[in-house]
Amino acid sequence: MNNKELIKKALDAKKRAYVPYSHFHVGAALITGDDKVYTGCNIEIASYSPTLCAERTAIFKAISEGSTEIKTIAVVGDSNPTFPCGVCRQVIREFGKNAKIIIANSEDDYKEYTIDDLLPHSFGPEDLDNAKKD
Ligand code: THU
Repeated sequence: MNNKELIKKALDAKKRAYVPYSHFHVGAALITGDDKVYTGCNIEIASYSPTLCAERTAIFKAISEGSTEIKTIAVVGDSNPTFPCGVCRQVIREFGKNAKIIIANSEDDYKEYTIDDLLPHSFGPEDLDNAKKD
């Protein structure tokens, strides 16, 4: 699947955003290491804090289906461009250290980033490798 096709999937997912409170629509689509495609939209809850961003909806769908590596993720939202929030950046970092992150305004208007661009000097799984097991 090429960038344009993945962005199209994110735009389709964005239409399914459940956003009765913010009215801010976000869609995400990702390709996994095993070449599967998962999509997600943001989902808001009346008590607010359970709200889930589009990126994490897509990522958690992938992880729970057994695909644990993000190769590419495309994000589209109502602000042009819409960048992933800090929490989503950390989640992308967990499963997509080498991911290509596409921030798109449309299928033909997008830019590509790495996780180091969006979350420099990040903390990740490797930091825990030498933790003392006590
Ligand atoms: N939102 C996302 O879905 N992804 C982001 O990375 C930025 C924020 C959602 C959460 C909430 O439903 C709405 O946008 C407004 O913050």
